[in-house]
Amino acid sequence: MSRLRILVLVRDGLVPPDSLDGYSPKEIAEWKCEFDVVQALRKLGHDVQPLGVYDDLGPLRHAIAENPPDIAFMLLEEFHGVTAYDQAVVSYLELMRQLYTGCNPLGMMLSRNKALAKKILLYHRIPTPHFVVAPRGRKLAGIAKLRFPLLVKAVFEDASQGISQASVVRDREALEERVRFVHESCNGDAMIEEYIEGRELYVGVIGNQRLQTFPIWEMDFGDMPSDGERIATRRIKWNEAYREKYSIDTRAARNLPDGIALKVANLCKRVYRELSMTGYARIDLRLTDDGRAYVLEANANPNLSRDEDFAASAKAAGVDYESLLQKIIQLGLQYPAPWKG
Ligand SMILES: Nc1ncnc2c1ncn2[C@@H]1O[C@H](COP(=O)(O)OP(=O)(O)O)[C@@H](O)[C@H]1O
Ligand SMILES: [Mg+2]
Repeated sequence: MSRLRILVLVRDGLVPPDSLDGYSPKEIAEWKCEFDVVQALRKLGHDVQPLGVYDDLGPLRHAIAENPPDIAFMLLEEFHGVTAYDQAVVSYLELMRQLYTGCNPLGMMLSRNKALAKKILLYHRIPTPHFVVAPRGRKLAGIAKLRFPLLVKAVFEDASQGISQASVVRDREALEERVRFVHESCNGDAMIEEYIEGRELYVGVIGNQRLQTFPIWEMDFGDMPSDGERIATRRIKWNEAYREKYSIDTRAARNLPDGIALKVANLCKRVYRELSMTGYARIDLRLTDDGRAYVLEANANPNLSRDEDFAASAKAAGVDYESLLQKIIQLGLQYPAPWKG
């Protein structure tokens, strides 16, 4: 690929330094993904310009108008603190006729709203846990059709935000309390889902029309205390010391029953298509002992850190980090945005 001018869009404050020297692991964790992407793009020989964006589109407009980049590398996950607005930034890029990496606005909008996404999946008979939405400010309704244990989460959060051991509830009282907690702490509607006991799988999908899946990845809950709920809580996802203490890690899924890997890969491609996704995504699922796979959610533009699940599973498929980013750029350049006619 020829040398490209790449504008890397990151949250304001996360423009990475040129080197890790002198930073603590905690500081590095804040902008590790941004750092990895910028370094790799430079290594590939591109002309890379990171831009911090928080609550003002002015600098973005300016950067695009002044010296139009060949592509914007989309690493923003929010706009003025609202995760659901990352999709609006991508819409803005399209209105500016600016090419970008990752998912298109519709795919982002459909997948970000977990309840809406599940309604679409159910229409297409894609298995996903039974659920009801508990809107903020309204009385809990429709619970009778669900079977305990249940899992309570926010309709709009990601990265295990608001997910802890108390997210799994086994009676009405705990349910009401957790719904109240999600309403207050996540400032939005809650979703109540039937809890699926089973293995936790993550599948990377990449492509616009022709899709590829990476090897199935699995959360290994290690030696976690047996009385704890085996779910990806905030602590399990982000607390390095806790993960080490109990040998919790993600890795290629081992010993999947015959035929399951292909079935899950095809299922994930269907999810990606039905949710109008493009670019790259990660699908989260649960697999029961009797071989049934349930889709939990689809993540547009999943974390691209070198050592995170998406890049690690790509590597297991023989796609090294630099090639992965190059592929993502290629897909961004090729995406048939409506303005292209
Ligand atoms: N219905 C469910 N059954 C079992 N575990 C679930 C269910 N929903 C969520 N979880 C657990 O909670 C974690 C976070 O839920 P998820 O829907 O993936 O939201 P997030 O956007 O925070 O990743 C999952 O990785 C899984 O461990
Ligand atoms: Mg998830």
